[in-house]
Amino acid sequence: MLIACGGRMRHDAAVLTDDTDPIRAVEIASARAWPAAETSGHAGWLLRATPGIDRARSNSALTPPAGRARTDDLDAVTAWYEARGIRPRIMVSPLDRHPHVDAELERRGWAVQWDVDLLVASLDDLVRGPAGATAVALWHAPTHPWLQAWAACEARTQDDVAAQARHVLGRLGSRALYALAGTPDAPTGVGIGVVDGSWCGIFAMATAPGARRQGVASAVLRALAQGARQRGAVAAYLQVTTTNAAAQTLYARHGFTRSHGYRTRVAPAPPSGSAPTSGLSRISSHVSQIPSANSGNPIAVRATPSAVTEPAR
Ligand SMILES: CC(C)(COP(=O)(O)OP(=O)(O)OC[C@H]1O[C@@H](n2cnc3c(N)ncnc32)[C@H](O)[C@@H]1OP(=O)(O)O)[C@@H](O)C(=O)NCCC(=O)NCCS
Repeated sequence: MLIACGGRMRHDAAVLTDDTDPIRAVEIASARAWPAAETSGHAGWLLRATPGIDRARSNSALTPPAGRARTDDLDAVTAWYEARGIRPRIMVSPLDRHPHVDAELERRGWAVQWDVDLLVASLDDLVRGPAGATAVALWHAPTHPWLQAWAACEARTQDDVAAQARHVLGRLGSRALYALAGTPDAPTGVGIGVVDGSWCGIFAMATAPGARRQGVASAVLRALAQGARQRGAVAAYLQVTTTNAAAQTLYARHGFTRSHGYRTRVAPAPPSGSAPTSGLSRISSHVSQIPSANSGNPIAVRATPSAVTEPAR
């Protein structure tokens, strides 16, 4: 099986095949849902790099299935990132099945960046759950209004959403659903669902600060679940930091339960003045070499919202 992404797509059959281990299956689904520009397999590790994006999910190595991760591989993983001018990051997943990797990274001075819970829920439960309190439109492309809404709800810069659109969202194609609550002129919430077989990955959930605790995220979750179910998915997963109490409470209320936890660690910063891997300057120089899977600028894509309208709570 392939990662469905553009750019320098590699065949990673040994890493990204479906797996009978349910935790590995959802890890794979998640990696496929948020594709990196460049991927490679190394002794069961999935190496991911996305020049132009400084985000862990797009630029981190996923540990091999439990039992296959060898600390001897850490030097090769590190070298792969350094060769690309990217500060190495490792997603130790599931954390409780890789204590030796986590301990070795700690010993080497790699800092903990995020502790994350991966949560799962059935789409039937989500559709039957709290309805939320607002109308939600589902778009089939990251339109300009949707990107503006994302920037507003999550306080992201225009440059950041443009980079995410170009280097990540542009690779999702028809698998993605973009939810927008409120109106394009006055958005109150956003979310993305990425359907891949029976799974729907939910990303970028955010409610505008002035509209929180009014059922917006609940309505977005439900609309994404309805849209994903229409496309044949049966279950959803998402990732939330362990310290995000608001989101953890929201998802628990909608029936999400914990599948497993993972930890992202980042390598020590290189000594100042040292060559060559302080990252973004070199990353920028690669951007123009990575073709987008989407022809043209995704910001310019037009789409018609499907009529997913939620009743008032
Ligand atoms: C998390 C977030 C999306 C919730 O959005 P929201 O529109 O306020 O959520 P809802 O109004 O639908 O909340 C539904 C339920 O979730 C729980 N909840 C939501 N926010 C909560 C908070 N700050 N504290 C405690 N519980 C909370 C409550 O049970 C709430 O029901 P109630 O208001 O009747 O008690 C929003 O706080 C946000 O955008 N945060 C910043 C971005 C973020 O963290 N996104 C999640 C990434 S995984």
